[in-house]
Amino acid sequence: MKLIGSKKVKTAVFISGNGSNLKSLIEFSRKKNSPILINLIISNNLKSRGLKFAKIFKIRKKIFNFKDKFLTEKKILLELKRNKIKLICLAGFMKILSKNFIKKFRGKILNIHPSLLPKFKGLNTHMRAIKNNEKYSGCTVHFVNSKLDSGKIILQKKVKISKNETSHSLAKKILIQEHKLYPQAILKIFNL
Ligand code: GAR
Repeated sequence: MKLIGSKKVKTAVFISGNGSNLKSLIEFSRKKNSPILINLIISNNLKSRGLKFAKIFKIRKKIFNFKDKFLTEKKILLELKRNKIKLICLAGFMKILSKNFIKKFRGKILNIHPSLLPKFKGLNTHMRAIKNNEKYSGCTVHFVNSKLDSGKIILQKKVKISKNETSHSLAKKILIQEHKLYPQAILKIFNL
């Protein structure tokens, strides 16, 4: 992606849950060397704990229930247009966006996934990695395409799976790396 002049790229972050990646992205975006500015938070879940960061950091938030996906995505696209959003970061967003939506933001949607893709796409990644006796798991930032967790990989970080690892302890270890990896991946796509 390209920066035009010194203007930061307006970015929306989509969340469903705790929003710890959202927080790390907001902190990153406020640094001088960051190419992005987060000015919209979208959640499919009114109870998403990460929504508190909208208030803390004074960022606009919008909540959409996905009962009618087609209609909801239409509304989201409108909201993105209104806010001149040019980049979308999915951060623990647990809904699958339609092909049509992705097409409208081709190459402009990023996702973070808690495994070393292409291993363990989808849900319950930590438990599956442990049960499979993997030595390592980790996290991946990738472009979103129309297939689940399958777009071009931008960056990955390995995390060692210890003896007696639980999915909870592994999730915690990986999350710490996620918070570093997402900003690094963003710098990378801007060639910074
Ligand atoms: C993160 O581990 C993220 O990689 C994962 O959900 C967690 C969200 O944490 N995402 C997925 O599993 C997407 N398939 P957060 O809300 O604290 O950022």
